Amino acid sequence: MNHQNKITIKKETTDKNGLNTMSDQDNTKNGIKWPEPTIRVQSLAESNLATVPDRYIKPPSERPDQTIIINHQPKTAAINIPVVDLNSLFSGNEEEKERISEACREFGFFQVINHGVRPELMEAAREAWRSFFNLPVEAKEVYSNSPSTYEGYGSRLGVEKGAILDWNDYYFLHYLPLVLKDLNKWPSLPSNIREVMDEYGEELVKLGEILARVLSSNLGLKEEQLQEAFGGEDVGACMRVNYYPKCPRPELALGLSPHSDPGGITILLPDDKVVGLQVRYGDTWITVNSHPHAFIVNLGDQIQILSNSIYKSSEHRVIVNSQKERVSLAFFYNPKSDIPIQPLQQLVTSTNPPLYPPMSFDEYRLFIRTQGPRGKSYVESHIST
Ligand code: OGA
Ligand code: NI
Repeated sequence: MNHQNKITIKKETTDKNGLNTMSDQDNTKNGIKWPEPTIRVQSLAESNLATVPDRYIKPPSERPDQTIIINHQPKTAAINIPVVDLNSLFSGNEEEKERISEACREFGFFQVINHGVRPELMEAAREAWRSFFNLPVEAKEVYSNSPSTYEGYGSRLGVEKGAILDWNDYYFLHYLPLVLKDLNKWPSLPSNIREVMDEYGEELVKLGEILARVLSSNLGLKEEQLQEAFGGEDVGACMRVNYYPKCPRPELALGLSPHSDPGGITILLPDDKVVGLQVRYGDTWITVNSHPHAFIVNLGDQIQILSNSIYKSSEHRVIVNSQKERVSLAFFYNPKSDIPIQPLQQLVTSTNPPLYPPMSFDEYRLFIRTQGPRGKSYVESHIST
C-alpha cells in the first residue's frame, strides 16, 4: 500500500471514538477523524473575505484587542524576554546562567543567541516551509493529518465539535525516537526540505540536550539528571511548523489560543520579519521581539511537573495581522513518551511535597490533543489531591 492510499483510507475508514492512548505510533485502524470537515485557513485567507467566518471569532474577553487595553501599564513596557548568550555561558559566564535561572522561575521564557546552530540553516529551514505552504492545495493535502497522531498537515488542535478555531495551519512531524522518524511522512517538496529538516533536527536535538543540562544544573541537580528523567537516550523530539495566514479581522481572532506546551523544552524559531508571539505575564500579554538569529526557548508542562513547580511552564499565544503571513518552527524536546513523569525526588521535601502524580507524556498530551489549547488548565488541574 503506498503512502497516498494509506492516508485516504485513514480519512475514510476510521471508526473508533477514543484517541490512541497506547503510543504515538500512526495507528491507521484505530485513528479517529476530525469532528468536522477540515478547512484550510490559508484557503480562507486567499479567498479575500472581508471578515473571518464565525468559527474563528473569539468571544470578546479572549480577543487580542482587549488585552492590549489591559496592557498599557508602563511597567510592562520595560519587560522583555531575556536574551542569553550561550557561548558566553559555556565560557564560564555565571551571569548568563543566572539569567536563565531567573527567566525559568519567572516566566519560563528566554531567548538564546550564539547557540551553535548556523544562521543559514535556520533561514533555509524557515524558507523551505514557506515554500511548502505556498505549494498548490493538492500537493499539501497528500499529507493531511488525523487526530490519532497529528502527524502531517493540519488545521486544528482538539477534536471538539463546534469549537472556535485558531487562524493557523501547521505541519507536525517526528524526529525521535527514530522508530517514529519517517521521512515519507515529511513533505517531498520543495526538493531540499527533507535534507534541510533532517540537519535542522539533528542540530536542535543537540541544543535540547545542552539546555537540559543547563536547567538541570540550575536546579541544583547533576547535569545529566534532567536528561535521565526524560528517558536518557530515549527522549522524544518533534516539530510543529506554524503557518499564520494574513487575517482580514485580526482583532477578532487568534493565530494560536493561549496554551502552555505540554512537553519538555520548546525551541522556537520565530519569523524574522513578523511578530506575533505573546507571553502571559500576570494579567498582561508581552509581545516577543526576537533578537536576530535567536531561538526562543520556553518551558513546557513536563518541566513544571519534574521541577515540582520550581520552574513554570509559560502560557503563550499568537496574534495575527492583516499585512503579512507568519511562519514559525516550534521544536519540542520531550520526555520518552511512555515513562511516568513526576516531580524529581531531589526537589521534593517534607515542606515541598510532590505536587503532581505520575503520568506518562503519551497520556498527558491527550488533554490538549482532544480539548485543544486551554491556557494552563491542564497542568493546573493535574495537581495531586
Ligand atoms: C506552538 C507555539 C508560537 C509561535 O507551536 O506551540 O506556541 O510563535 N508557537 O508560532
Ligand atoms: Ni506553544
